[in-house]
Amino acid sequence: MKQGKIFSSSREQTLAIAGHFARALQGGEIIFLRGPIGAGKTVFVKGIATALGLKSSPTSASFSLMKKYQNKSHRLFHIDLFRLEEGEVFNLGFEEMLEDEKAVILAEWPDPISRVLPQDRLEMNFILKEGDEREIELRSFGRVSDERLEDLCKIAQP
Ligand SMILES: Nc1ncnc2c1ncn2[C@@H]1O[C@H](COP(=O)(O)OP(=O)(O)OP(=O)(O)O)[C@@H](O)[C@H]1O
Ligand SMILES: [Mg+2]
Repeated sequence: MKQGKIFSSSREQTLAIAGHFARALQGGEIIFLRGPIGAGKTVFVKGIATALGLKSSPTSASFSLMKKYQNKSHRLFHIDLFRLEEGEVFNLGFEEMLEDEKAVILAEWPDPISRVLPQDRLEMNFILKEGDEREIELRSFGRVSDERLEDLCKIAQP
């Protein structure tokens, strides 16, 4: 396990960090986004999608819980399981995502699905500070996520 900490002082800075980070993604990464409502988790995901030029394509039943973004070179799933219980994630259409080893998975409120995802994951914990300040604690749990954690720390160096 590796740990780190990065900071953002504005929405724009979070978008910029995410945009640079997007270029480090190889496919297959699993990223858990934790932290309270309004912390900036979705802003981070948007920053990645925008930088890669990705548009979301509609998914079926689970549309509000899962968005799929793709183009020729990248596939990305953004899920948000706020208020879902673990027993409720079956039959919601996550099979495609779970079988796709080359897609990047970005998960807000990931606990309901965390047990069926591989252990090698980067955890980003967004902490609200004064005003627009955010502290983002990083923890990684395997070879792939260790590398991404180091990428993020380099990108966000003050
Ligand atoms: N440093 C910052 N980084 C990201 N967003 C910021 C920052 N400072 C202020 N904001 C604002 O905080 C809000 C973050 O909203 P966002 O939807 O990303 O939150 P969230 O963590 O996804 O919450 P939820 O759990 O409800 O999905 C936006 O309105 C954004 O403009
Ligand atoms: Mg969100």
